[in-house]
Amino acid sequence: MVSYKELGLVNTREMFAKAVKGGYAIPAFNFNTMEQMQAIVQAAVETKSPVIMQVSKGARKYANPTILRYMAQGAVEYAKELGCANPQIVLHLDHGDSFETCKSCIDSGFSSVMIDGSSKPYEENIALTKQVVEYAHKYDVTVEAELGVLAGVEDEVAAEESHYTKPEEVIDFSTRTGCDSLAISIGTSHGAYKFKPEQCTRNAEGKLIPPPLAFDVLHAIEEKLPGFPIVLHGSSSVPQDEVDTINKFGGKLPDAVGIPEEQLREAAKSAVCKINIDSDSRLAMTAAIRQHFAEHPDHFDPRQYLTPARDNMKKMYIHKIVNVLGSNDKL
Ligand code: 13P
Repeated sequence: MVSYKELGLVNTREMFAKAVKGGYAIPAFNFNTMEQMQAIVQAAVETKSPVIMQVSKGARKYANPTILRYMAQGAVEYAKELGCANPQIVLHLDHGDSFETCKSCIDSGFSSVMIDGSSKPYEENIALTKQVVEYAHKYDVTVEAELGVLAGVEDEVAAEESHYTKPEEVIDFSTRTGCDSLAISIGTSHGAYKFKPEQCTRNAEGKLIPPPLAFDVLHAIEEKLPGFPIVLHGSSSVPQDEVDTINKFGGKLPDAVGIPEEQLREAAKSAVCKINIDSDSRLAMTAAIRQHFAEHPDHFDPRQYLTPARDNMKKMYIHKIVNVLGSNDKL
C-alpha cells in the first residue's frame, strides 16, 4: 500500500471547495506519455495553477500502471524543480469501471478515483459507487461518480447516445453514495467528433456549429445541490487551427467538432469545478508532429519532433488554464 501523501500528491477536496467558491474550474488533463506529463507540469507551474493529471484504463494499458504512478510522483518533483514550492497535483483514475480497478489505484498511490457506473441501472450505480467511496475514504482518497450518459468514444468508454442527468436524482444519488463530486451529462461528449453534422448548423464558411450545452439542466442540478462539485467530461474544444494543420499535412479529420470555449468558460463560473480535456492534447501533439515531418523529411530522432509536440501541448494547456478555466494564480 502506497499512500498518495507520501508521493506529494493531494486529493480534490480542498481544491474543489475553493474552485466552486472562486468561480473557476480545475483542469483535468489526461496523460499517457512523458511529453504530456512534462507539458502539463510546465503549464501548471508557469500559470500557478492546481492540476489534475488523469489516467484512463487505456492509458494504464498503454503505459503500464506502475510507470504512470512513478510519472505522477516525478511530476511533483519536477514541479518543485521548476520553482513551485508547493505544487497541488492530483493523480486521478478516469472512468474506473470496477471496484477492483479503483482499489488497485488507491493502493498504488492515486489521490482520486472515478467510478463510472453511469451505464448501469440506477440502483447498481449507487451500490458500486458506495462500495468504492467506503474503501477510498478510509485512505482520504476522493471519489468522482457519474449520473447520466455522455455520447462519444474515449478509449474503451463508448456510447451512441447521450442521456442528460436527471436533476431529480442528484440529491438521492450523492447522499446515498457519499461521492465527493459528480460528473453530469449536459451535452458534452468524448472524442474529436462530438456531434454528427446533422446535429449541428453550419456557419458562412461551412464550419460546423455544435448545439449548445444544456445550461438549464446544469442550473437545475446546482439548485438541488448548492455548492456540490460538478464535473464535465468530454470538454475538448477541438481547435480548428489544429484540425486544419493536421488536414493540411496529410491528416484526415473531416468535420471534427468540439465544445465552444465560451460555453466552457460559462460553465467554469458555476459549480462545475473540474473540466476534462484529452482530445485537444492529442490534436496539439499530432498537428505539431505532422507539420514537423512535412517540413523536415530528413528527421528521424524522436526528440526532433517530440519537442515541438510538447511545446504545442504546453501552449494549449496554458491557454485552457488562463483563458477558459480561470485556474491560474490559484495555488
Ligand atoms: P475529450 O475527448 O473531450 O477531451 O474528453 C476527455 C474526457 O472526458 C476524459 O474523461
